[in-house]
Amino acid sequence: MLSSKFAVFHCAGIIVVSALAISQPCRAEDRTSPHATAQSTSSAWTVPDIDKLPDDVWGKTVRYGRDLITKTSSLIGPEVADVSRRFAGNNLDCQSCHSEAGTKEFGLPLVGVSADFPAYSARLGQVYTIEERIQGCMERSMNGKRLPPEGPEMTAMAAYLMFLSTGRPVGAKTPGRGSGWMPELDRAADPAKGRTVYANMCAACHGVNGEGQRTGTAGDAKGYVFPPLWGPDSYNDGAGMNRLIEAANFIHSNMPQGTTWNAPVLSPEDAWNVAAYIDSQPRPSMPGLDRDFPNKIEKPVDTAYGPYADGFSEEQHKFGPFAPIEASIKKLKELHDAQR
Ligand code: HEC
Ligand code: HEC
Repeated sequence: MLSSKFAVFHCAGIIVVSALAISQPCRAEDRTSPHATAQSTSSAWTVPDIDKLPDDVWGKTVRYGRDLITKTSSLIGPEVADVSRRFAGNNLDCQSCHSEAGTKEFGLPLVGVSADFPAYSARLGQVYTIEERIQGCMERSMNGKRLPPEGPEMTAMAAYLMFLSTGRPVGAKTPGRGSGWMPELDRAADPAKGRTVYANMCAACHGVNGEGQRTGTAGDAKGYVFPPLWGPDSYNDGAGMNRLIEAANFIHSNMPQGTTWNAPVLSPEDAWNVAAYIDSQPRPSMPGLDRDFPNKIEKPVDTAYGPYADGFSEEQHKFGPFAPIEASIKKLKELHDAQR
């Protein structure tokens, strides 16, 4: 177990040329991860072709849904001219995180998601619909308001997501969803080391102060070429990206831009550290987060805010190491099950 955790650090060999980073991909045998079998191969990854849809009402609605994912800031962002359509609270696009219109393998894709909903949400402690899942990203990742549940935006997004599940059986788990699962460190991630990684590998696009690069100017509703990673126009502290495991894996599989999960540029260690740096920066705060996860033993170990069921500090939940927390949660769950 331990040796496989360390093997991955031998595959560095990174050359940095301004914003572009070229790496020697790790050899397959170096990338032994406990979850390696859950990862798919690129050849199995298929996405239905939106251009094949006719220009009828269904096709138009699906395309509008796609546009809402890729141009969120221009259609429902905080700077759009029609005040009644300002639903998102920041100028990110869904695509800022759900890469390539939600079609990229391990780039938090939206492919196959509808086939897997309704699903249980530990955060809500109840089964929720795909629409409610979208509302979650509206309120947290987009730091905004809920969309009208029956409105044209929600309908179009749900239609686009359904389209992205074309041909997938109900209940199917699509391999390639999420952002991958690299080995965890056996110590806390280090934001100070992450700061150096950030300066060398990220700042050229995302800005020295994480502010991103606007397409045009503030107020024009044109969003960003490179999205902000922290500060007032970023995701809030209740968002999935504000959890270290989520952010580190996303970064490892997708960043710098152009990276694919099977040829990562950053070493896992650098990805953990730079994610820790980003997640320790200031960002909007969401009220009422203490009410998330009504059953606290279902709270993901990397949730950055309490209360927690285990005795570990907020600091350790933010930066790890997570294995001791996982072990303690496992015991609590066994106790809980034994009492039933
Ligand atoms: C700042 C990054 C970010 C942005 C922007 C964002 N999301 Fe997400 N989204 C995530 C993360 C991270 C997850 C998965 C982690 C989780 O469940 O908390 C996720 C999960 C989802 C899921 C469930 C996916 C699955 O595999 O189960 C849907 C659907 C979704 N988002 C829709 C949207 C929509 C629609 C928008 C725009 C209105 C959006 N997201 C904007 C980060 C983001
Ligand atoms: C060449 C430009 C470029 C570089 C370099 C780059 N990114 Fe990104 N990043 C992007 C773009 C563009 C997106 C939007 C999503 C996409 O297109 O995949 C993005 C999205 C993100 C997101 C999710 C969106 C958000 O607002 O939070 C995170 C987190 C992120 N990058 C982190 C990093 C980190 C960490 C590094 C350095 C290791 C890095 N990026 C390097 C261009 C870049």
